[in-house]
Amino acid sequence: MIRERTSYDEALGFAAEKALDFLRGLDRRPVAATVNEDALRERLDRPLPDAGMDPQRAVARLVDDVDGGLLGSQSGRFFAWVIGGSLPSALAADWLTAVWGQNAALYATGPAAAMIEEVVGRWLVSLLPVRASSSFAFVTGSQAAHATCLAAARHSLLAERGWDVEMRGLREAPELRVVVNERRHASIDRAVRLLGMGRASIVPLEPGSGGTMDPRSLEAELGRRPGIATIVALQAGDINTGTFDDFRTLVPIAKRHGAWVHVDGAFGLWAGASPSYRHLTAGVQSAHSWAADGHKWLNVPFDCAYAFVAFPQAHRAAFSIEAPYIAGHARARDEIDWNPEWSRRARGFATYAALLELGRSGVARMVERSCLNARDIVAGIAALPGAEALWQPVLNQGLVRFIDVRPGATQADHDRRTEEVVRAINATGEAFFSTTTWRGMRAMRVSVVNWQTSETDVERTVAAVRNALAS
Ligand SMILES: Cc1ncc(COP(=O)(O)O)c(C=O)c1O
Repeated sequence: MIRERTSYDEALGFAAEKALDFLRGLDRRPVAATVNEDALRERLDRPLPDAGMDPQRAVARLVDDVDGGLLGSQSGRFFAWVIGGSLPSALAADWLTAVWGQNAALYATGPAAAMIEEVVGRWLVSLLPVRASSSFAFVTGSQAAHATCLAAARHSLLAERGWDVEMRGLREAPELRVVVNERRHASIDRAVRLLGMGRASIVPLEPGSGGTMDPRSLEAELGRRPGIATIVALQAGDINTGTFDDFRTLVPIAKRHGAWVHVDGAFGLWAGASPSYRHLTAGVQSAHSWAADGHKWLNVPFDCAYAFVAFPQAHRAAFSIEAPYIAGHARARDEIDWNPEWSRRARGFATYAALLELGRSGVARMVERSCLNARDIVAGIAALPGAEALWQPVLNQGLVRFIDVRPGATQADHDRRTEEVVRAINATGEAFFSTTTWRGMRAMRVSVVNWQTSETDVERTVAAVRNALAS
């Protein structure tokens, strides 16, 4: 059925109203879901209807059907995983991105979208601790950013060995090795798999006492089998502790052995945008590629991340594509030359708006406020009876656990108690946390990346933990 033009008015007007209700209600609504999987399935799992419906009714149905099944991840009291919120400007720009419907594949298919990516990419290069001449790509997440960067690494390392991987693939190619910390984020492994290098190419090193990569182990591994095409994946911001590898020591070791250094900076690279936390990233600029998320600490809606590559030629060689119907632009940047996707969302718009809203100083303040809030939450919880801080935040990530106070309680009892208290906190609807295993102990992760988290949120959160412990 062809719709009248006015259909947009009703559907979008309704959506805007519902969106504002949702956002204004974040302080009042539970941060956790209030319906379980059975209820959601019962409500949603219907046969595809034969007849369509009015657009506004379709949107209303969507809103009703997801009710209670949405987490309050946009709220300032959501501390699970590493999930950012959405700045007002970025959220509005993200709406407009869909409204404008530009295909950010080529300059020709979206001139302003291409130009914005070109400009915002340079802004990000000047804001984050990456090499000043880096090329960049706007991708869906750090997972995709790793794949993008490692494709450039694969190209470069194999080209140095006389192998054209884009032409010949990996069959009979020189061996590739990826040296990582045992505690890397698993998205590195998946990027390696996607690029056909296989899990067997991954060499995990036991971390040093601080949990970061041990320079002696790196030196030993690289020396053990010299000459192999090697990627060393380092970490700016460990998922549990927010700690950083010692780039000043590790990068020169890797470079001396001819390795490509990739940095997972999904959230941690943003520390480089703050004068107070920049020291944590010292030496990271001398790596070869970096991944950072926009949808975490920059508080741009999903899906948004950035891949940076110190060798634009290798980056472009890994992705550039030609087809008779997509003549490239001579004087502007065609995104397709740098990205794994073909047709794609114009991701630059939301980042452009976010950076205009915050400015350089606003990004720094947002990072610093998150870190302060993380410290206050961990300190507030640790002061409660039956709670213990396992990791005081050096950045925005902390760890606490809850103790089984019965005499003779074992590690398993403390682990059980930790799970139980986290469930109880989440059930209050006041704050939301996730768990992890750290140094053999179950722990509650405190991850603060939402621009909205305020002192009141910190107080409400500590009060919620106090109540959960008392119940
Ligand atoms: C350290 C780290 N690396 C990589 C990722 C994967 O990022 P994304 O989910 O944006 O693909 C995450 C996500 O939580 C992360 O925290």
